[in-house]
Amino acid sequence: VPVGATVVHMSGWREHAVVDSGRCRVVDPEDALLHLSSGLTAYVGLRVAGLRNGETVYVSSAAGAVGSMVAQLAKAIGAGRVVGSTSSARKATDLTERLGFDAAFDYRGGPIDEELARSAPNGIDVFFDNVGGEHLAATIKALNPRGRVALCGALAQQLGEDADPQLDLLTIIGRRLSLRGFTATDHLDWEPDYLRLMRHNNIVPAHTIVDGLASAPQALLDVFAGRYTGMVTVRLGHEA
Ligand SMILES: NC(=O)c1ccc[n+]([C@@H]2O[C@H](COP(=O)([O-])OP(=O)(O)OC[C@H]3O[C@@H](n4cnc5c(N)ncnc54)[C@H](OP(=O)(O)O)[C@@H]3O)[C@@H](O)[C@H]2O)c1
Repeated sequence: VPVGATVVHMSGWREHAVVDSGRCRVVDPEDALLHLSSGLTAYVGLRVAGLRNGETVYVSSAAGAVGSMVAQLAKAIGAGRVVGSTSSARKATDLTERLGFDAAFDYRGGPIDEELARSAPNGIDVFFDNVGGEHLAATIKALNPRGRVALCGALAQQLGEDADPQLDLLTIIGRRLSLRGFTATDHLDWEPDYLRLMRHNNIVPAHTIVDGLASAPQALLDVFAGRYTGMVTVRLGHEA
């Protein structure tokens, strides 16, 4: 690792870290925000789902760190329509006004199948799922034949209690649907393609900066409570 290089490591929140050279990656400091963002995860999910030109994508937890990156990337790849859901009308407006979504709804506002029928009248080809649970169960029924689900996260299980959805297997079989889990770290070799797509389309991750490590625990709780749109970064050397 050259002296003065900017590196990415996974040693967690800290101001200093001693890291083996094999456990960090040298990156261009110009791209620091792109590496801090969850854009690579969004890109990998769309790629494993085999998104094709003109298709309709639906994203759950669309205002989150991963979800907020999906619409602009999907459009850059060729998606025809991108729909997202989140927990408030204010965040839904953010999705359509700032983050490239064609339609967005508050999933607490009514049954998900009805909201999907309104927002994606021609059905869904790719479901980028961050939530799982009943959200996944409802969306299965809105998928078009040969639709694909990129299973990115299971927030309903991670942050809630909705761990055991009743998936309609006959719909999955009859419509030849595919559900595929993925982890972005299996595809770090796709990072150069991701960075090119981001730069070429001038996509800037939506983010909020909080100052100082001492602010990080509260910021994390606020992320879980849905208080932010996009990712949250902690700036070191600027104590609040
Ligand atoms: N597969 C991979 O490689 C990979 C990589 C990174 C992250 N992930 C996963 O992807 C998912 C999204 O990650 P992220 O960093 O973007 O998180 P995030 O979406 O920013 O997480 C916070 C959001 O979760 C939603 N939420 C809170 N409680 C919930 C509940 N009980 N049910 C449903 N949603 C709830 C809230 O959004 P609303 O206000 O909109 O409800 C909140 O803004 C996570 O499950 C994470 O583990 C996967």
